[in-house]
Formats: sequence, C-alpha cells, structure tokens
Amino acid sequence: MEFDVLVTGCGGFLGSWVAERLVQDGLRVVGIDFFTDNYPREIKENNLKNLSGNPSFQLIEKDLAHLSIDDLKNKKIAHVIHLAAQPGVRDSWGPDFVKYIHNNVHATQNLLEVLIRINSFKRLIYASSSSVYGEPPHEAKEQAIKETSLTNPYSPYGVTKLTAEKLCQAYSANYGFELVSLRFFTVYGPRQRPDMAFSRFIRKAIRGEPIVIYGDGSQKRDFTFVEDAIEAVILSLKKGSGVYNVGRGKTVPLKEALNVLRDHFPELKVAFEPKQKGDVSFTWADISKIQAELGYSPKVDLQEGLERQIQWIRSNGFS
Ligand code: NAD
Ligand code: UGA
Repeated sequence: MEFDVLVTGCGGFLGSWVAERLVQDGLRVVGIDFFTDNYPREIKENNLKNLSGNPSFQLIEKDLAHLSIDDLKNKKIAHVIHLAAQPGVRDSWGPDFVKYIHNNVHATQNLLEVLIRINSFKRLIYASSSSVYGEPPHEAKEQAIKETSLTNPYSPYGVTKLTAEKLCQAYSANYGFELVSLRFFTVYGPRQRPDMAFSRFIRKAIRGEPIVIYGDGSQKRDFTFVEDAIEAVILSLKKGSGVYNVGRGKTVPLKEALNVLRDHFPELKVAFEPKQKGDVSFTWADISKIQAELGYSPKVDLQEGLERQIQWIRSNGFS
C-alpha cells in the first residue's frame, strides 16, 4: 500500500523544502498550510511554485487548530512532519503572544487529537527549536549544548515550542506512536524567513542600506544550512526516537559571520541597536547523538551557505 506523508507548514521556509525533497524522493505528500500573516502570502506561494500542479503533492489550506479527521479522509497517512508554527523569538512578547499560543500550542494539540484517530498513523517528526534551552549558565558557554542539558526557555516563543514538544511526548507515551523531536539551531539559506538575520542583512546589503545588529554582535549562533536541516528530517523518517539537536556543530559570533558577508558586500554598512528581549547570547549544538544514531553529517559551511543564500535572493526578487 502506498502511504502519504503529511507535512504541516508546507508553505514555509523549512516545510516547502521538506515537501519538495519528499516528492523528489518519489513519495506522495499532503501539505497543510494556513498562510498565516507572519510574512506575506506571496512569499509562501512562491515557496510552493515548484510543487504546484505536481500530482504527488496536494495542498490543504487549513488552520491546524481547526483540522478535523474529515479533512484527511481518503488519505493513508503513516508519517507526519509537523513544521507549522508561529516562529521568531523577538516578536513573541506582548499582544502577539496569542498567535504563538494558537499556532504552536493549540494547533499542535488539535493535530495530535486528529492523528491518534488515523489507523495508519505511525510516526511523528516534530520541529522543535534550540530556543527550548534558553540562555546557558555562564560556565556552560564554552561547551556545545547536549540534548540532556537543562531546558529553560528565555523567550515566550521558546516556552511555546517546549510546551508543544512536551505535548507530543505525552501523546506519544499514551497512544504509542513513534516520535522524533528535532531541535533546529538557527537555519539559513534560500527561502529563509524575511524576519531572520541573514535574510534581512542580504536584502539590505543589496539595496545599499545599513544592516542593524542587535547588541554588539558578540552573540554566537550555530548556523545550520537548510539542506543539512532537511537531511536530518529525511533521516528521522526512518529511524531514531526522542530528541535530537540539529545544527552544524560549530558556533560563530554574529560579527564574524558579517565578515563572510563583507566578502560579497565590501561596502556593508552596519548600525547598532540595543540587544533584543528574548535573544540568547549563545547557541552551539552538540550533534554527536544525531550523528551516531541517525548518520547525520552536516555538509555546508557558512561561506558556501551564505553564498548560496545571496545568489538565491539576487535571482528571486524578494529584495
Ligand atoms: P515559516 O514561518 O517559514 O513556516 C511555518 C509555516 O507554518 C508558515 O507557512 C505558516 O503559514 C504555517 N502555519 C503557522 N501556523 C499554522 C496553523 N495554525 N495552521 C496551518 N499552518 C500554519 O517558519 P520556518 O522557519 O520554516 O519554521 C518551521 C518550523 O521549524 C517551526 O516549527 C519553527 O518553530 C521551527 N524552527 C525553525 C528554525 C529556523 O531557524 N527557521 C529554527 C528552529 C526551529
Ligand atoms: C532562529 C529562528 O528565528 C527561530 O524560529 C528559531 O527557533 C531559532 O532560530 C532557533 O534556533 O531555535 P535566531 O537565532 O534569533 O532565531 O535567528 P536570527 O533571526 O537569524 O538571528 C540571529 C542573530 O542575529 C540574533 O542574535 C539576532 O538578535 C541577530 N539579528 C537578527 C540582528 O542582529 N539583526 C537583525 O536584523 C536580525
């Protein structure tokens, strides 16, 4: 029997690449997206343009918080990749928090209620986040973060991503489906969300406008190229259980990453604004677990990854 893979958030940055890769691999994909307003619908539709009209891809436009079993009738779903969410750390304060509760917590809980009613459903991959760890204690800042490290979110967004991760664990433990939670570390590359750092920096650099650095640029990130992140998703469809970090396994101060951009934009202008609430000073993924158990091996370094993102933005006109 041929099964469909369900991909939530298929119009987004990660979701569109995952859906495309699965179709390329010969699988049938049912994608769900509600084209939420975190960035323009036009960009998400553009993300889906390679898939539109492909008989192996079907789009359901629906808010996951209101999904019902009837929306998935006639589908044989065994694997579900749950990427839909309200992402973004810095916007999760204030009145917009209701969007984080709705799209990250309510939507996940309702999706789980639907999935446990599908007889063929077997395995869930949940897109978690490095933001579940929060700000590591001072003495831990020279060490990569392991899956066993304390989870202590530093932003409302991180709280909702950890809540949803725990919801998936509770449903999995009670209903017996297989679960993998992938904690992605700052993913970048073609189609990166317009609110994220490199996407903003490159578009501003092309226009000759100053980029804005929050804080002094000493914050460190484990930047993960999107192709490596997608490979982790594909590997986790077949094996693994529990929580895995997905990163490059290296950490870079933001100001060092700017030097890579300067190779392409020697005139880069930089302005500084205060550090933003919710922004942690350090992320670094210990990837030994996913390497050993899933055979994950990140391939793309920051030089190559940023070059590919720059080329993509130049040729796609979303600048
Ligand atoms: P994105 O905003 O590009 O994609 C998310 C998609 O989900 C959007 O197209 C949106 O319309 C859809 N969506 C949101 N709420 C929905 C709902 N209630 N019903 C149906 N569709 C809904 O974000 P992204 O950067 O691709 O992130 C994908 C996932 O990975 C998210 O869960 C995010 O928290 C997680 N993540 C991303 C990163 C990163 O660096 N991009 C890092 C860690 C974790
Ligand atoms: C990213 C994603 O936005 C989250 O969805 C995800 O959950 C998170 O990674 C994660 O790893 O869990 P973030 O690390 O803030 O969050 O990624 P960027 O938006 O690319 O920001 C990277 C750094 O650049 C941050 O320190 C941020 O403050 C800084 N930045 C961002 C600027 O200095 N200027 C900007 O204009 C934008």
